[in-house]
Amino acid sequence: MHSQRQPALLVRNISKTFNGNTVLSGCSIEVKSGEIHGLLGQNGSGKSTLVKILSGYQPPDAGAELLLSGVPVHFPVSSASVRDSGLAFVHQDLALVDELSVLDNLFVGRYGAGLGRPVPTRRLAAQARSALAQFGMQIDPGRAVSTLSSGDKACLAIVRAFLDVDGHESPALVLDEPTARLDRAEVERLFTAMRAAAARGAGILFISHRLDEILTITDRVTALRGGVVTGEANTANCDEDSLIELILGERLSSIYPPSSVVPGAPALTVAGLTGDTVLGLDLEIRAGEVVGLTGLPDSGADAVPYLLMGSRRATASAAELDGATFDVARMPISQRIRSGLALVPGDRAEQGAALGLTVSENVSLLRLREFVRFTFLNPRKQRTEVGRLLADFDVRPQRPNAVMGVLSGGNQQKAVMAKTLATAPKVVILHEPTQGVDVGARRLIFQIVADLSAQGTAVLLVSVEHEDLARLSHRVIVMRNGVVGAELSGDDLVKERIAEECLRTG
Ligand SMILES: Nc1ncnc2c1ncn2[C@@H]1O[C@H](COP(=O)(O)OP(=O)(O)OP(=O)(O)O)[C@@H](O)[C@H]1O
Ligand SMILES: [Mg+2]
Repeated sequence: MHSQRQPALLVRNISKTFNGNTVLSGCSIEVKSGEIHGLLGQNGSGKSTLVKILSGYQPPDAGAELLLSGVPVHFPVSSASVRDSGLAFVHQDLALVDELSVLDNLFVGRYGAGLGRPVPTRRLAAQARSALAQFGMQIDPGRAVSTLSSGDKACLAIVRAFLDVDGHESPALVLDEPTARLDRAEVERLFTAMRAAAARGAGILFISHRLDEILTITDRVTALRGGVVTGEANTANCDEDSLIELILGERLSSIYPPSSVVPGAPALTVAGLTGDTVLGLDLEIRAGEVVGLTGLPDSGADAVPYLLMGSRRATASAAELDGATFDVARMPISQRIRSGLALVPGDRAEQGAALGLTVSENVSLLRLREFVRFTFLNPRKQRTEVGRLLADFDVRPQRPNAVMGVLSGGNQQKAVMAKTLATAPKVVILHEPTQGVDVGARRLIFQIVADLSAQGTAVLLVSVEHEDLARLSHRVIVMRNGVVGAELSGDDLVKERIAEECLRTG
């Protein structure tokens, strides 16, 4: 449509080396004006590093070029200069300042522009309100970002990116896994906004591990493997299998492992679980059973993991874990862990990972007791165990002393799983376990679920990925309005039926 124009974003020959470790090597990508361009690649392939270089957060190695609508921008770039040239970002970690208000986060980069003049707060607040409303958000711009839900934070970062380039003739937007924390309705809103921006001439670079999203929204794709561009394709010529081949360099047979486990005795029995959006849930999971739990936002499904684990307060519930009374309303979290319950939370940055500690410290956190002998840590035992866990969970790079925050997003997720499952729990709750992980790691996580089940561990899989639920679970519980709306098993255990039951009212 805008083919006569210069590409909205053109990068050439981007390389990046950290302490002798080459993460990107001679990457070139062209995003045309009016085009939605997918950037594909396994966890750790260098996608976010490229994004950070474009935003000026990190300098590239020598020789890199960046052109925006044909105009060269010289490295090192500053965040203000790229924004003024019409380039905006949603970063994988969102890059919001929690302590500041929504309004300040939306406009913080621009307050400096009118130095000495008072900030026109009222006008900006009105502008913020209307931009947020366009994205379906009715939040007070004065609210501290720390009080927002993780979905709202992601939406805020998206609104900011669109605002940053508002009015620019041929802007470029770079979105690093923007959908990872969004629900289906929010993803639809984002896609509508992306299509509208592209129709006005924007070029959009879109990163996602969800291949259905890539097939739905992109016009073209570029794949990175080990920091090198390994292929480009028109999306119209692709299907899920060919995208997987582009990403991994090989075809995959099924990503779902076969399982024939027959569940045993009840491992966890919960009656009348109440608290947050949950209004009385009865639940039983047997040893070796995989129970799927899902529902629309506010159905209560996504509160269940945190009520059971104790990070949100339950007001009532009678429960038994492995034959012993389990006081869901009052038990301290540490005691729940000792009783055999484990949770891999959905929001790893906030609840799962200590980003400032090393990978080894993170992975050992829940088992420190075992590594402590006579009040001294037994470092050799810890090293061996951590090494084994990192290998089992395919955490890359396998360097226990790396700081957790330096790992790519998907590798942090695998490390959080390693940490949680290292306690050999009897009941495991997995909340969106494949969020942000690449297709190879997804297959690994599904295999871990099957292995847990085969070992007799009870698994509660809380997710909005209907296909995964249908393929991995013995049965799926669909919540509506805080209670069980439907239970599906046997021939009804298909993604279409799950979606239908989620949407049914009453
Ligand atoms: N500041 C840093 N110091 C050292 N290594 C780093 C640093 N930042 C990133 N890396 C390494 O660069 C590699 C690429 O990471 P990057 O975050 O770009 O991957 P990604 O493709 O975005 O992965 P994901 O899909 O998991 O988000 C990883 O091996 C990571 O550990
Ligand atoms: Mg990344």
